[in-house]
Amino acid sequence: MRTQTDLARALTTARERTDELFRLVRPDSLYERPIPERHRMVFYIGHLEAFDWNLIGRYQLDLRSFQPEFDRLFAFGIDPPPGQLPADQPSDWPALSEVERYNQRTRDEIDDVLEEVPEQLLHVAIEHRLMHAETFAYILHNLAYERKVPVAQASRPVLCSPEPDLSRFIEIPAGEARLGRTAEEGFGWDNEFEAHTVEVPAFSISQHKVTNGEYLEFVRAGAEAPFFWTERDGRWFYRGMFSETPLPLDCPVYVTHREAEAYARWRGKSLPTEPQFHRAACLPPASGNFDFRHWDPIPVHADDIRSHAGPAQMFGNGWEWTSTVFQSFPGFQPFPFYTNYSEPFFDGQHYVLKGASPRTAACFLRTSFRNWFRPSYPYLYATFRMVES
Ligand code: AVJ
Ligand code: FE
Repeated sequence: MRTQTDLARALTTARERTDELFRLVRPDSLYERPIPERHRMVFYIGHLEAFDWNLIGRYQLDLRSFQPEFDRLFAFGIDPPPGQLPADQPSDWPALSEVERYNQRTRDEIDDVLEEVPEQLLHVAIEHRLMHAETFAYILHNLAYERKVPVAQASRPVLCSPEPDLSRFIEIPAGEARLGRTAEEGFGWDNEFEAHTVEVPAFSISQHKVTNGEYLEFVRAGAEAPFFWTERDGRWFYRGMFSETPLPLDCPVYVTHREAEAYARWRGKSLPTEPQFHRAACLPPASGNFDFRHWDPIPVHADDIRSHAGPAQMFGNGWEWTSTVFQSFPGFQPFPFYTNYSEPFFDGQHYVLKGASPRTAACFLRTSFRNWFRPSYPYLYATFRMVES
């Protein structure tokens, strides 16, 4: 388990990560709103620091507020139900220089007292920031290419196993799935508690994530194209982070829960439940398409040379939708210092996702971590595999 000093270092690294990400937006474009259901980008620049300040400076250490309007303005993001989009204007937001001054002051004040901060709160600050490193990537993805500062893309060769059999299903015997975690196992968010087991009958699960190529058959049969695709002159393209590429047929398809469900039904299958995912997944791997190594997906059969026998890429290369509605585990208690992290989302309107995406930090690769989004939210790096009972 990490010590206070490790955590102080991890906070510094996480700050560098998000600072670097915000620099990819051309400064004249920070008041844009690339995702209509989310705030303008400038909000996130203030949000990460206001969150840490409200949690550590205000809640935990009771320091004096030096700019209370900003503490409130940048406190929380939004997740409006379908059809209720925000209508604020760029002029409703403060100047970047003011936000930057606020940010510097919050960091200085927090750093002065960092040794007094309980480890749990440091984990919360670090993981909250890294979650936004991912959700901000979804936002950045939808910013016009000419408004981004292009980065030299790591052109790491991607090794693929030969001739993957995409229709292959793996049999998982009946048994217990262990969900959640215990406090002794280390930091987890409120919704990861308490640890418990559930009985899962035998089922089989696709070895690989469903690919663009497979989904294309569904589109050719009349389904709507995924949000990440675009068609020009009868050819399909993938809208990547920094450029469009011809649709990579062997990469996982990024879709909504609705689309994943419809595809599975069309194939006579269904989406796995959260416990089924647990039964199928082994321990998270040490490497894969996660922890910011790539900006976009890699083939579903990349670097799985070692795992021919089992389900491939259960962690990384795209979150996986489950058929499980996001609900609390038995014994759930919200964190007293952050009561609204999970509880408002136990509303029957969000589904559990498991695994990780290319932009998920390595710290989230623990079996108990649960992600959740609305079933029609198309912006995240989310794919799926199918089950047969
Ligand atoms: C866990 C990714 C669904 O983005 O709504 C960030 C994370 N919560 N700030 C979200 C979160 C508050 C959350 N997800
Ligand atoms: Fe947040």
